[in-house]
Amino acid sequence: MSYHKTYAAAKADPEAFWLEQAKSIDWDSPPTAGYDEATNCWYADAIGNTCYNCVDRHVEAGRGDQVAIIHDSPVTNSVSRLTYAQLQDQVSRLAGVLHERGVLKGDRVVIYMPMVPEALVAMLACTRIGAVHSVVFGGFAAPELAVRLNDCTPKAVIAGSCGIEPNRVVEYKPLLDAAIEMAEEKPEFCLIMQREQARADLISGRDFDMLDEMSRAAPADCVPVAGSDPAYILYTSGTTGQPKGVVRPTAGHMVALNWSMGNIYDVGIGDVFWAASDVGWVVGHSYICYGPLLAGCTTVVFEGKPVGTPDAGTFWRVIADHKVKSFFTAPTAFRAIKREDPKGEHVARYDLSDFKTLYFAGERADPDTVHWAADVLGVPVIDHWWQTETGWAIAANPMGLEALPVKVGSPSVAVPGYEIHILAPDGTEMPTGELGAVAIKLPLPPGTLPTLWNADDRYKKSYLTTFPGYYETGDAGLIDEDGYLYIMARTDDVINVAGHRLSTGAMEEILAEHPDVAECAVIGVSDDLKGQLPVGFLCLNRGVDRPEAEIVAECVAQVRQVLGPVAAFKSAVVVERLPKTRSGKILRAIMVKIADGAEYKVPATIDDPAILTEISEALSRIGYADAAKK
Ligand code: COA
Ligand code: AMP
Repeated sequence: MSYHKTYAAAKADPEAFWLEQAKSIDWDSPPTAGYDEATNCWYADAIGNTCYNCVDRHVEAGRGDQVAIIHDSPVTNSVSRLTYAQLQDQVSRLAGVLHERGVLKGDRVVIYMPMVPEALVAMLACTRIGAVHSVVFGGFAAPELAVRLNDCTPKAVIAGSCGIEPNRVVEYKPLLDAAIEMAEEKPEFCLIMQREQARADLISGRDFDMLDEMSRAAPADCVPVAGSDPAYILYTSGTTGQPKGVVRPTAGHMVALNWSMGNIYDVGIGDVFWAASDVGWVVGHSYICYGPLLAGCTTVVFEGKPVGTPDAGTFWRVIADHKVKSFFTAPTAFRAIKREDPKGEHVARYDLSDFKTLYFAGERADPDTVHWAADVLGVPVIDHWWQTETGWAIAANPMGLEALPVKVGSPSVAVPGYEIHILAPDGTEMPTGELGAVAIKLPLPPGTLPTLWNADDRYKKSYLTTFPGYYETGDAGLIDEDGYLYIMARTDDVINVAGHRLSTGAMEEILAEHPDVAECAVIGVSDDLKGQLPVGFLCLNRGVDRPEAEIVAECVAQVRQVLGPVAAFKSAVVVERLPKTRSGKILRAIMVKIADGAEYKVPATIDDPAILTEISEALSRIGYADAAKK
């Protein structure tokens, strides 16, 4: 069926459309109804198990010898493979360990692991017994991990002893110990996957060697759960320091991801699919772990960077070596490659004949990068737009359904199940081609968040209140006369650094803790490589008489210490005052325009326009030359 027919079918009768798609999942008891208002979930009455659909059903169908996971790790110079049968063995043993130690259906388990196959094994082991995992990205520091421990109160933590960054080994265990020390809610036990690069000391009675335990454990079977039971919680940045725990419902998650593999990514049983992201992000959940395994693909777990591990040809080597058909990453990775190898000369060293399509998401796909990628690789480059909350694409070019014409700069059209609207602040529809808030008519399709963990009021306030009857995405954009969407900016204080979603509010909370800082603001300025980079503005307490450079260095260190290296917070500057409206609102958007050297209008509500010149001068002091031009 064509895209337009499929979209129309999903819109005309969502219940029939999605019940039909649900038939591709193996259920203990299939859903009898679609969207359920009481739980805000699809298929609430279904009974099934995610791990069974990702692993066991492929083995039972005779595909036990097919490779399920390829671990390609240039940072440890190794490549290994797990078949579906081996994956089943490992997952059921780890599930057995958890079960024996008292983890039951509904209990939470935090996973803090690098890009190793055991991270997927841990996720699947949790879903196997109906436990709810929450994976925390390795680039977050101990206090961030502690915030998540307190919020989801896990019974257990599964962690790697270390992660490997190109320039250093990151020991995870001391971070985990510090987080548990800080947290009020402490796990009953930890399973530690020891890696040779930095073995961890285990605390007697609390920590256990994961692989050792697995070798002794009795395998555990899949535990059927309700369709509306959470499969996992994934924390994402909001506007404050308290991250939002996005809840993923079991049944809708399976159906939506399975549908997306064939219809968006054009892959199925036996195809090799690679998402170069991290298990700590939603891309890692949906398209390193669950999506490809639900669809019976081979998934690649890549432990490396696009450049420097060892060179800018690594991505092409992985695609060639493993015969990757569809590849998904963030544009920032390609900008890094392009900077090192502008002519794409590494490409010629590899046979990319199995490679069919490149997918970009996570941040705006800038036309330069899209053109460059298409030129050097000779495959369609498909931008698609979504967010942690939805778990799968809201807008995409559905390559498996019908390859629509590509419009560079646009993530294409609404995916079946999503009704996208561009709204004015008063909730009325914007005319075609005009910028507004991007909102999605309720109910959202299967797989999307029904609520935030332990924070239903925050869920409603964050997403459902501004535009009654719609989900507010937090993005601004427009739709053109052909129905193509363009995402232009965030409407809140969330920034996007190297495809990572970060909260400037969270950074401000950390800076405000510094004893010399009276007031502060953090903005995201444009960056050629990472898309955006955070920059801090610090107003000091009266009477502070220390070198500014010292205070700035302490603030930079503090953000790294509390939020983590992933924040990439490296620049801050001391200013006398911040530009504000007369009612005291900091004019962050204007500050961004000054930093980017863009045109701006001085708002009529500004308290004192002279401050803008001071901001511009401060920015030029820290190397933002464009700012000085204005
Ligand atoms: N554990 C510990 N530290 C980590 C980490 C992890 N899992 N991941 C990143 N970090 C650290 C890095 O070492 C770096 O530290 P540094 O300040 O000491 O150099 C810092 O966090 C920032 O990391 P990153 O944003 O990855 O920047 P980078 O300079 O190392 O690499 C890119 C830049 C563009 C190559 C890289 O960001 C990339 O490949 N991005 C791909 C996009 C992606 O994965 N997006 C996810 C959503 S799709
Ligand atoms: P995350 O929840 O981390 O996946 O981040 C989601 C946010 O990243 C979105 O709300 C957008 O602001 C941005 N984003 C993701 N994909 C795209 C895209 N293809 N184009 C523009 N922005 C994107």
